[in-house]
Amino acid sequence: MITVLMPALLLGASFPAATQRAPATGGQTGQAASNPGWWNNAVIYEIYPRSFQDSNGDGIGDLNGITSRLDYLQKLGVDAIWLTPIYPSPQVDFGYDISDYDSIDPRYGTLDDFSRLVAEAKKRNIGIIMDLVLNHTSDQHPWFLESRSSRTNPKRDWYVWRDGKRVNGKLEPPNNWESVFGHSAWQWDAKTGQYYYHRFYIQQPDLNWNNPQVRNAMYDVARLWIRRGVAGFRLDAITSLFEDPSDTDEAYVLGPDGKPVINAYGDKEVMTNKTDNLPEVHDVLRELRRATDTASGRRVVLIGETYLDSIGDLRKMYGVNNDELQLPMDMQVGFINKFDVGLFRRRINQAETGLNGDEPLFVFDNHDNPRWDRYQTDAQGTADFGDGPHHDEIGRVIATVLFASRDTAMMYYGDEIGMVTTPPTRKEDVRDPIGITGWPKEKGRDGERTPMQWNAGPDAGFSSAGVKIWLPIPASYKRINVAAEEREPDSMLHWYEQIIALKKHDPALHDGEEIMLNTSDDHVLSWLRKSSHGEAVVVACNFTAEPRTMSFNLRAEGIQEERVKTLLKSPGAPEPRSLDRIELEPYGVYIGQIR
Ligand code: NOJ
Ligand code: CA
Repeated sequence: MITVLMPALLLGASFPAATQRAPATGGQTGQAASNPGWWNNAVIYEIYPRSFQDSNGDGIGDLNGITSRLDYLQKLGVDAIWLTPIYPSPQVDFGYDISDYDSIDPRYGTLDDFSRLVAEAKKRNIGIIMDLVLNHTSDQHPWFLESRSSRTNPKRDWYVWRDGKRVNGKLEPPNNWESVFGHSAWQWDAKTGQYYYHRFYIQQPDLNWNNPQVRNAMYDVARLWIRRGVAGFRLDAITSLFEDPSDTDEAYVLGPDGKPVINAYGDKEVMTNKTDNLPEVHDVLRELRRATDTASGRRVVLIGETYLDSIGDLRKMYGVNNDELQLPMDMQVGFINKFDVGLFRRRINQAETGLNGDEPLFVFDNHDNPRWDRYQTDAQGTADFGDGPHHDEIGRVIATVLFASRDTAMMYYGDEIGMVTTPPTRKEDVRDPIGITGWPKEKGRDGERTPMQWNAGPDAGFSSAGVKIWLPIPASYKRINVAAEEREPDSMLHWYEQIIALKKHDPALHDGEEIMLNTSDDHVLSWLRKSSHGEAVVVACNFTAEPRTMSFNLRAEGIQEERVKTLLKSPGAPEPRSLDRIELEPYGVYIGQIR
């Protein structure tokens, strides 16, 4: 399986024993976040603009294409759209290498198209969230062109430049730090005789966040887009803004045999203690929050790309005084990557009890990792992406954890129809550069970036017929597409619509506290949602391929009632008469209101 940006540490992390309820002192459960806003309990939909809808027949998705699909997103129940970067860019990292933060890449449209998208989305109560890439720019950005022009250029210090070191008379990079995308993180610049640091591609030099001019330039960028009407920002690679000034080597990551781990790029994997999650990040988050909070009368949300492996580190991202991110992404639940009931229970409960009552942002999918069908592969052991049994059943379980938890829910385009990860099968077809460097171990991220499947017609309705599309349409589009699923009552799309509607309109599912139930059950994950007015809903997800029968006794939760009214259940499952006997199909889901 490919898992591109997930640190090994997070995947293998061991967590302390679960408290299923909050302790009497310390953590709090089910309270409104201390600084609530429109984003609480909201549904945020990530769009990879290249791949959503092409409106002008060039084979690349664009802003007008997105605008033309807003009615669809409104019907689904989306509150905000996060657009991955649409700024002018050489597109080495498909937009994450920005050469001008103030404009729109002509491939995606114009500033007028952007304004129209913001205005049309607003009419439908949908906010537009921009991706803000603060860690690095493109090597073609005028700031970097100046910086690399001479050692005395005023912008020299805007990036991270260092001398090399002499080893046996040979010049080498300052230390062994590695790029996330393979090989040394230092690139030699012959003209000025120094190395520059790049955590990602060579064409993405890191900015020097110790320089106040860099900070102010970026806060100005944020203010500009707020004036243009955006509802918030998703902060790319936010934990990597600072590097340890000592510049000393990292330790090597050791495998179970005590030997250094060799990664997909053939390098000995190094730790990231000196390049990730340094404490200075919090100063920047507080400054950025102040800049964005005061930039307009509207409430602007800051979302963080925060691959953190402890709940304590995640909590810190909200700020001691709730003055940093409103929504750091919780990757600890969605990226467990195997159907382990105990682990899901523990991590969901940690999010409920370990964030000072602030709300977690759960996420299972994005443009950097295989789609949710990776759970199917793990659960079944051998199946290839998307073609094993129980695809739809597993999708319903994932959607239930995502939308029936007390959280802000972040989903990725195509999740709602069950699009499957479709990685390239030949190296010559790969578009994502890491898939070329890392082939065949690392096939890159093309598999999760394929075009949205709108219908069973030519090009799946993504582009105009006969056009060369930037990534091929997966063969599964004939069966998995919006038009077909709109007609099919038991489709994945209808499951998403129904469960999102419950999240919005059922008082317990909207923001009620979340209490884990039957906590010694290894097969079924179940929980109670309870609103402050006493409304209660029970949720049960079968994490196994065998049928299971559940019985709930909620007296310890102050609930005497045993009658239950079904809100949503897997297709074909029997109607239960009471909480005493709820039958679940393989990977079956039951959601019922207690009466
Ligand atoms: C995280 C983004 O999600 C990913 O797509 C990108 O390659 C890196 N950050 C570098 O910007
Ligand atoms: Ca286009």
